[in-house]
Amino acid sequence: MATVIVITSGKGGVGKTTTSAAISTGLALCGYKTVVIDFDVGLRNLDLIMGCERRVVYDFVNVIKQESNLRQSLIKDKRVDNLFILPASQTRDKDILDIEGVGRVIDELSESFDYIICDSPAGIERGAFMAMYFADEAVVVTNPEVSSVRDSDRILGLLASKTRRAEQGGKPIKEHLLLTRYDPLRVDKGEMLSVEDVKDILAIPLLGVIPESKAVLQASNAGTPIILEGDSDAGQAYDDAVSRLLGEERMHRFLEVEKKGFFSKFRLFRS
Ligand SMILES: Nc1ncnc2c1ncn2[C@@H]1O[C@H](COP(=O)(O)OP(=O)(O)OP(=O)(O)O)[C@@H](O)[C@H]1O
Ligand SMILES: [Mg+2]
Repeated sequence: MATVIVITSGKGGVGKTTTSAAISTGLALCGYKTVVIDFDVGLRNLDLIMGCERRVVYDFVNVIKQESNLRQSLIKDKRVDNLFILPASQTRDKDILDIEGVGRVIDELSESFDYIICDSPAGIERGAFMAMYFADEAVVVTNPEVSSVRDSDRILGLLASKTRRAEQGGKPIKEHLLLTRYDPLRVDKGEMLSVEDVKDILAIPLLGVIPESKAVLQASNAGTPIILEGDSDAGQAYDDAVSRLLGEERMHRFLEVEKKGFFSKFRLFRS
């Protein structure tokens, strides 16, 4: 039986797809057979960030409509063993997903995968519901700003009321907070909320803090999940987050403004 994890946020553009690509790649690198599904029907971003857009023949909607089977539609990652992508359709109406169809696909994937990662579209409409409905765990991606935190709070309400686990009255979905695009300098200046502020408002366990990093855009332009850029701070922060997801304890990093070393101070002084 697979563990189904939704990557969700409410607010758009906060880093869900970046996170879905990083976490699925990280889990596969740890040896877990992992599939990442793009629920953002109509936009199709995940395959670009995963660098497999030219290999898409059949997509998630084809499988739901039984126009293709899973074997034909899953794309096997070329760099990482155990990693598969189920891309979204670019052309279809985003209301095409339905609970029966999505449930059938999740059940079939559950038979052979350890993890199913669902990359949610923004908003609280149908696509976002479908992405969260079958979840066992949720990663709530939040930026350190009021509008993003407010939307994450709304999503927490929906996770507790509109999902299969909520309806069946079983164990609640395990929630994780992932704070992304964190810039300690701007936090110090009072322009952004701090980790503590966001933790206080949302009151769910902190999975990780991903720093604002130019490396993220460069990696996504190159079709490389940022976690594969082991030298980057954001890549390392995602690596820590994956370890915590698997139950390991790791210190949080990148929370403070980086102190300049002696030599860089010296250069600063001379210039
Ligand atoms: N840690 C980061 N540092 C800098 N830029 C980032 C970071 N995380 C994400 N971004 C950038 O933010 C933008 C949005 O990221 P992404 O597409 O992952 O968000 P999303 O939540 O999936 O958006 P949507 O709601 O449209 O699906 C992208 O340009 C991405 O490169
Ligand atoms: Mg996205």
